[in-house]
Amino acid sequence: MDKEAGKRLAAEQAATHVERGMTLGLGTGSTAKYFVEIMGARIKEGWTLRGIPTSEETSRQARAVGIELITPDETTIIDLAVDGADEADPQLNLIKGGGGALLREKIIASAARKFIVIADKSKRVVTLGAFPLPVEIDPFAWALTVKRLREVLFEQGYESPKLDLRAAEGAPIFSDGGNLIIDCALERIESPALLDKSLAGIPGVVETGLFCNIADLIIYGDADGVSIEPG
Ligand code: 5RP
Repeated sequence: MDKEAGKRLAAEQAATHVERGMTLGLGTGSTAKYFVEIMGARIKEGWTLRGIPTSEETSRQARAVGIELITPDETTIIDLAVDGADEADPQLNLIKGGGGALLREKIIASAARKFIVIADKSKRVVTLGAFPLPVEIDPFAWALTVKRLREVLFEQGYESPKLDLRAAEGAPIFSDGGNLIIDCALERIESPALLDKSLAGIPGVVETGLFCNIADLIIYGDADGVSIEPG
């Protein structure tokens, strides 16, 4: 079974948590896309659902499949958020932001009554960090912020990590919120919550891709079906 089938299985399982009338946080990425597609099918069956997209990309897809979209300012209640992840550990800590939507994803996931992560099984790791940690920063004085990022990482035991400004064809990539993303190759993150707190304290850092104590459930899909953590 390929990864795509695992992603779809995980999305289908997450869909069993959706009830008619819910307001949903809609994640970003190739796995979240399957969930949005399934929600579109529910709408066609006559369900009422509202969605809050975490990116322009998801917004376009959700609109195309007929999901009514609202802005986060139109409600204080998000019943359920469903999103993918770049890595997830057994304590339900995540690295997210491979698709550059980490800030909006974190706001919506944290605000939701329940946050379910969907992923193919290859995303499960014992220790986070092989996937470079995305850190979203304000473009103002960005080089100074990166310098400080390096210093704080050094204090946290990372001697000379490779930090890359996310770019394509030589031009920086901006998030939907107009920020830059620095991808930090850290290899191993032993204390994700501590690192998240240290990085978030740097002026200029808007958000980190470490999601700690936010996920309620992770659904992995692979050839054996789905496995759910905590079990
Ligand atoms: C986007 C994300 C995605 O959820 C993450 O990159 C996983 O994407 P995919 O499902 O395509 O592997 O955090 O910012």
